[in-house]
Amino acid sequence: MPIHETERDSLIDRVNKQEKCLVQFLDSPIKYQNQQLDLVIDYYLVDDLPRELHEWTFQLVKTNLQDMYEKSKDGWSEEEKRKEMLAPQARYLIARSAIDPNDIKGFLHFQMVQEETMDDDIMANCAYCYEIQIAESARGQGLGEYMMNLLSQIGTYWKMDKVMLTVFKANEGAFRFYIKKLGFELDEISPGACLPLYKARKFDYELLSKPCI
Ligand SMILES: CC(C)(COP(=O)(O)OP(=O)(O)OC[C@H]1O[C@@H](n2cnc3c(N)ncnc32)[C@H](O)[C@@H]1OP(=O)(O)O)[C@@H](O)C(=O)NCCC(=O)NCCS
Repeated sequence: MPIHETERDSLIDRVNKQEKCLVQFLDSPIKYQNQQLDLVIDYYLVDDLPRELHEWTFQLVKTNLQDMYEKSKDGWSEEEKRKEMLAPQARYLIARSAIDPNDIKGFLHFQMVQEETMDDDIMANCAYCYEIQIAESARGQGLGEYMMNLLSQIGTYWKMDKVMLTVFKANEGAFRFYIKKLGFELDEISPGACLPLYKARKFDYELLSKPCI
């Protein structure tokens, strides 16, 4: 039976207003171990994120993406990015060394939000990945995939419709990662999916998504 719109609203409201921790169904602590990495992944609501960790996450975004933002239509604004990263509903997964807690390897910032669909009457409940950033030394070792899979599990547990994210078209490595490795597809409201080619070309980003099943 289709879920009535008000039930969908109350679901996202409940998750955002009442649920401080969204990972209690996972083993604690969350670990990521392979031949190269021995990591613990900590969960934070933005209000609980220590200042130095917030600064570390911001500096990693700046190092990894400032160039791409500067070349994009909207440009780079430190103030806007800081505001987005400190949004009241922002939640963080932060990967750190199991041996040295000060050795941080990467993070994922997500929020539970409603997004438009191609149907004017229906909003989709999304586990939205605002940012995934892995320190250069820890890339290509499966950590990005592991953290995105954690977000899928969180989305599924909390009955979200899909995991969603925005990616610059210029970010070819990230495109390969999401589409080839993780099986994301252009979301129905992404410029490349819903606009004719000559209009879609004017956008420097796409929206990708994957159903929560
Ligand atoms: C994209 C990113 C999160 C992937 O994390 P990761 O831990 O390196 O990912 P994994 O090890 O799980 O997977 C690596 C895969 O990503 C893809 N990939 C990502 N960046 C790549 C790059 N620069 N060159 C080649 N492949 C890349 C490849 O498909 C690779 O697959 P392979 O392991 O089969 O070769 C990480 O590269 C990163 O932080 N990049 C900089 C920040 C960024 O662009 N974030 C995304 C913003 S939308």
